[in-house]
Amino acid sequence: MAVIDMHSHFFPAMDAAYRARAEAEGLPWLHDAGDGTGFIMSGKDRFRPVEEILWNPARRVEALDAQGIDLQILCATPIMFGYGRPAEQALDAARRFNDEALAFCAYAPDRMKALAQVPLQDIDLSCAEVSRAVAAGHLGVQIGNHMGLRNLDDEGLLTFLAHCADVGAAVLVHPWDMMARERMPKYMLPWLVAMPAETQLSILSLILSGAFERLPKSLRICFGHGGGSFAFLLGRVENAWKHRDIVRVDCPNPPSTYVDRFYVDSAVFDPRALSLLIDVMGEDRVLLGSDHPFPLGEQDIGRLVRDHDGLSTAQKAKIFSGNARTFLNI
Ligand code: CO
Repeated sequence: MAVIDMHSHFFPAMDAAYRARAEAEGLPWLHDAGDGTGFIMSGKDRFRPVEEILWNPARRVEALDAQGIDLQILCATPIMFGYGRPAEQALDAARRFNDEALAFCAYAPDRMKALAQVPLQDIDLSCAEVSRAVAAGHLGVQIGNHMGLRNLDDEGLLTFLAHCADVGAAVLVHPWDMMARERMPKYMLPWLVAMPAETQLSILSLILSGAFERLPKSLRICFGHGGGSFAFLLGRVENAWKHRDIVRVDCPNPPSTYVDRFYVDSAVFDPRALSLLIDVMGEDRVLLGSDHPFPLGEQDIGRLVRDHDGLSTAQKAKIFSGNARTFLNI
């Protein structure tokens, strides 16, 4: 059974000139300790300890071989987005990182493909960069789930999504810049509580604003981490839509009727959650995504799907690769 992992991350090593500039200017960069480990740095500060698999394509392909992954889709580690910086600076970084992503994948072009990043603080620059990236070989784009105070139903962000549909770019929405961090100083709570809420907020922004009524049906969009809190709480939203006019004011159809407009990955880590997710989204809308190679990702990629008693072989084939082929148009 072919296996495509739709959600993984990389971070390019970059050259010495970039690293020196990044350290001085507070940009994200990679410190390679030379022993197979390193740190993602933010200027002079250590952001996160990482391993060589994040920046060395040979190590990555070894892992794909060991895990039985035929094709992995790589995208930026969200600290690379630079949405809070001046747009021209974020565009320069996006171009460099996007070119590095293609160089990384070129090590084994049948095994690794990339999604680009864009300077989402500027919609015109974002549209231009995603067009350039797709022409250069990216399958689409990964974006953060919001741009400052603007959710995905922001008119500019909708213009960008429509442009992605026009140029045939698949869109992966990844939570980042998590809400209420001041109340979550410990235990990785921003990752455990706020990330799923961010993703639910993004999906509901598109549904309840009526954006899916206006976006082209050709838009291929996927949300990471199983769509966060969305599937488990869809019933609550449906009930609210029925009984409160302020919920349905911009959304002409029941929220549950829009689940055929987007995909979610399978990174939910519990067979009961996966069962619910497939029940809610449908077997054509869930695709394997691991969040590899981070500790909060699947350590044994695809095992949750492979070992699930309630799924038929045909359903597993869809989740392992069939749905990803549709989403990525490959
Ligand atoms: Co991720």
